Amino acid sequence: MTVTEQSVQTFQVAPGGSLRGRFRVPGDKSVSHRSIMLGAIADGETTVDGFLEGADALATLSACRAMGVTIEGPSDGSLRILGVGLHGLQAPATALDLGNAGTAMRLFCGLLAGQAFDSVLTGDASLSARPMRRVIAPLASMGAVIASEPGERAPLRIEGGQTLHGIDYVMPMASAQVKSCLLLAGLYADGETVVTEPAPTRDHTERMLEAFGCRLQRRGQRIAIRGQQRLRATHVIVPGDLSSAAFFIVGACIASNTDVVIEGVGTNPTRTGLLDILSLMGADIELRHRREQGAEPVADIHVRSSRLSGVTIPERLVPLAIDEFPILFIAAACATGTTVLRGAAELRVKESDRIAVMADGLVRLGVRAEATADGMIIRGRDGDDDAQDAVFDGGTIDSHGDHRIAMAFAMAALRARAPITITDTANVATSFPGFDTLAARAGLALTVTTQSMGSES
Ligand code: S3P
Repeated sequence: MTVTEQSVQTFQVAPGGSLRGRFRVPGDKSVSHRSIMLGAIADGETTVDGFLEGADALATLSACRAMGVTIEGPSDGSLRILGVGLHGLQAPATALDLGNAGTAMRLFCGLLAGQAFDSVLTGDASLSARPMRRVIAPLASMGAVIASEPGERAPLRIEGGQTLHGIDYVMPMASAQVKSCLLLAGLYADGETVVTEPAPTRDHTERMLEAFGCRLQRRGQRIAIRGQQRLRATHVIVPGDLSSAAFFIVGACIASNTDVVIEGVGTNPTRTGLLDILSLMGADIELRHRREQGAEPVADIHVRSSRLSGVTIPERLVPLAIDEFPILFIAAACATGTTVLRGAAELRVKESDRIAVMADGLVRLGVRAEATADGMIIRGRDGDDDAQDAVFDGGTIDSHGDHRIAMAFAMAALRARAPITITDTANVATSFPGFDTLAARAGLALTVTTQSMGSES
């Protein structure tokens, strides 16, 4: 038996306050994962700036180191990756522990399915409960051999030494993780791998593969990659993560007397569903100083207090805002009238069941929210309420270890009438290290308590 120290972290947020200032948020999680993976299998030395030093991206970094890749850093977001080439990865001595990171597990599945060696992918309790059939099934049809736990859950045991063949795959769900997994496997396959997505999803993998000199054919929602192409090392600039900026964007919309500029945020059009939905709701958001940084567009995002109105969210925007619904639900509660979300069943298989956990938390704070099979109906404020009235009761919310649930309810305190306490918040560090400090500096009355707990295993 071993006893390990685990810390249990809680956010306490006093009601009210405002958000002000000009600041940056940490690097994009999706782009950070991909920079390590592609840098690792490229020929030559890749440099990365703006890398997210959060637990998820660091798990990808450690996994690549465990497969023989020399990576210097991260130091202040900068990294040097000495690429080992397409066939240069080595067998890891132990299982690759990917913690909470779904992106790492699904992308590594594709990257490792065509290697000469065996590998095992593990994760924490949340990751071990997430569906992996979506990658195992198409990879198996390419010739991969992957064993899993009942229900096709992690740990995943990938048998090396298989010959992969290109497939023509029509994805049953809009998922950038599945698409990226298959494109990475396609790099190691014979012939051409073609993936067709049912709706556009984030295209960071496609953009970055092209930046590494790889040729793709992109026609509408159909992407084709030829196997055995070698990648050329490059310089990757990671933009600020719009999914992290989202908490401050909505916070600045719902609080009174706000004026916030978030600098250098990624505005890839496959990620900006949040901005489109908030615009439909009447938000005062302006993108300034739009520019290209490497393979990705960025801008400074200027947000002020806004009178929001409820909307029926267009379903085509769902995959483009897939990580932003926890904080969008907070915005909807502060809006006048009803907001309806449909076509978002994927939210049930994220780091937590984000439909159930958010609906429970909203109801606990006195909001008229109703979970549906694939979305939520939120009845916001009545039209004659004062636009800046408190909306949320105080109370204690269990984040279920989900970083985005924790940060969403922290921002709700800006419009609460009593303190909000959020438990189990340590996983905020998976995507947004320093959230508490930045939020407090911007004006949120947030304090963190950490308790050490011994656990036996
Ligand atoms: C991601 C894709 C999305 C998103 C996740 C990151 C990626 O997942 O929710 O946080 O980096 O490809 P799905 O592709 O499963 O929707």
